[in-house]
Amino acid sequence: MVQATPFLLVLSLALMAHGLSERKCMLSGRWINDLGSNMTIGDLNRKGEFAGSYHTAVTATNNEIQVSPLQGSQHRTIQKSQPTFGFTVNWKFSDSITVFTGQCFVDDDGKEVLKTMWLLRSRVDNIKDDWKATRVGINIFTRLHSQKE
Ligand code: BTN
Repeated sequence: MVQATPFLLVLSLALMAHGLSERKCMLSGRWINDLGSNMTIGDLNRKGEFAGSYHTAVTATNNEIQVSPLQGSQHRTIQKSQPTFGFTVNWKFSDSITVFTGQCFVDDDGKEVLKTMWLLRSRVDNIKDDWKATRVGINIFTRLHSQKE
């Protein structure tokens, strides 16, 4: 019992140090992806829900691109340092919807990165065209830092 005390002390200090050194990936802020699209995510509420805006660099339509709203949620807001999340973009300039799902990571250089997959659902006039109405892809987002940083 007496010998166990220093061991437990060292163990708890090691665990504490590990916990302090583990950087947390935070979704809120400004991000850019591999296509050059920008998004801004606002503060998360107590349930992990968030809203923001998305400025896509590309479109599957011939319409003029407009900044569009996004809504999403993050899993287990407080406990996890590299949380999973999902969000939906309701495009203002087309009849389409995109859903993104992904995870917020801190890479080996300490930089935050969002690894996502998306489904883009376009509207079709006829049920016979349903088979070609959904595109799938991946996007990788990195944080856009403000000039002050
Ligand atoms: C549309 O073309 O109907 C709406 C714009 C879709 C843009 C897509 S969503 C997935 C991919 N990632 C982006 O940043 N833009 C494209």
